[in-house]
Amino acid sequence: MAVWAFVPAAGSGVRMGVMTPKQYLMLHNRPLLWWTLDRLSCQPEVTGVMVGISADDSHWSDLKWHSGKMIGTVNGGDDRARTVLNGVEKLLEVGESEDWVLVHDAVRPCVTNNDISRLIAEVVASECRGGLLGAPIADTIKQVSKHRVRTTVDRSQLWRALTPQLFPLGLLHQALSNAIKEGVAITDEASAVERVGFPPLMVEGRSDNIKITHLGDLQLAEVILASQESVDRSEEDR
Ligand code: CTP
Ligand code: MG
Repeated sequence: MAVWAFVPAAGSGVRMGVMTPKQYLMLHNRPLLWWTLDRLSCQPEVTGVMVGISADDSHWSDLKWHSGKMIGTVNGGDDRARTVLNGVEKLLEVGESEDWVLVHDAVRPCVTNNDISRLIAEVVASECRGGLLGAPIADTIKQVSKHRVRTTVDRSQLWRALTPQLFPLGLLHQALSNAIKEGVAITDEASAVERVGFPPLMVEGRSDNIKITHLGDLQLAEVILASQESVDRSEEDR
């Protein structure tokens, strides 16, 4: 069973509000993307890693990330879904339609290898044609319009969709192509696959697998990475 990892890293990070695309901002003395790629390449189940980068990216060549698992880059698209579709098309040149692809945001460096392993094991053992990491919503949810609370939403069935998300290459290709052709805006792989009739498996992951979106998230990610390292070290000492 081959599991390819694809990392969409072609965004420009508008919400971050700085010139450098956020995937290249520094986190503990290394670019954020370096940490993400490091986690994926350490994942024993992963066969190869491909990265989607913007055609006008001037930072990738300075990243100096080396791994025997790196199989190449592909040009990003106008939105995340198109970047992922480009990656899936390229992966279909080296892999089979039934191979799995693990799509993981470049800007989620705090994902743990343990969560990725559980996602792969639980999806492969299930009857679902794919799945994703997610976390149940903890806060009370309000529907708001013009700064006025309209209603309180029942959160009992609401989860945050995280990444990685794992699907067969062929199915994801069909689902993304279909959504793009029909002009449907989608922000994750699961919603494309849901549309073509395959409910993905939701696997509970750690809520500290945050997506770096605003400047403050960088400091939070530094704290999370440091705490994960100290847990790893204390486990080694035991
Ligand atoms: N992404 C991509 N191609 C795009 C847009 C986004 O590969 N055309 C990637 C980003 O690089 C990121 C992931 O998709 O790794 C999640 O997207 P998001 O957090 O929205 O990043 P940006 O689009 O860069 O940020 P913003 O929406 O604030 O501009
Ligand atoms: Mg975006």
